Amino acid sequence: MNHHVSLTDIPDLNGRYDLYGGVHKGLRRAGCDLLCRLGAVDHDKTEEIDAVIARLRAYLDLAASHVMHEDENIHKALRERGVPTSAIDHQHDDHRRDFADLEALAVRVETAAPHLRKAACRTLYLAFAAYIADDLAHMHEEETATAPALWRAFTDEELMGVEMRIVSSMAPEENMAFMRTMIPAMNPAERAALLGAMKNGAPPEVFNAVIEFAVRPSLSDTAFDDLAERLQIAA
Ligand SMILES: [Fe+2]
Repeated sequence: MNHHVSLTDIPDLNGRYDLYGGVHKGLRRAGCDLLCRLGAVDHDKTEEIDAVIARLRAYLDLAASHVMHEDENIHKALRERGVPTSAIDHQHDDHRRDFADLEALAVRVETAAPHLRKAACRTLYLAFAAYIADDLAHMHEEETATAPALWRAFTDEELMGVEMRIVSSMAPEENMAFMRTMIPAMNPAERAALLGAMKNGAPPEVFNAVIEFAVRPSLSDTAFDDLAERLQIAA
């Protein structure tokens, strides 16, 4: 992957629909948090290792699902309008190989003899750091090059339709997992916009379940109160 990303060529949204913003913020936050946990895990404590590896697997599931949603909905839609996607397609293929490698390294940590655990944890930590570096560069490309291509080829209404297709293709538990990842990573105005749209568009029992099981547990009391006020719901 090309790591020479441009720091001075970051296009403004200019009011256009930010298809990648929320979910990428969520993946960055969860990935950086997990990287820190992998760095700090006590390799002599099995329960600590089990807990961090369970988090790693949940993260890899989410990341694999995200890549698949982008392939099937965003890349496909771009190709249908004549926009080539081979560069980002290859980056997604690299990700899939990385997911398998990270799973194998996690199994190595789990099955290592006690005196080899320290080395296995270090290898997993360094591999995950390299994956995150790649993924940060990849998401940067998507938000600075692919997003403008989407804005040129589609209206905002069409882009919202793409997002709706992704959201409605997921089982409720998977949607909840994405919401738990995205909500705390977004700023207050973005949270209110996402959940305000859901409040207006989704059945009340679905909206309430998202609030109770994904939003409330992932925010501080202060952040939740701020959101409740913006949404005009009970704190
Ligand atoms: Fe992607």
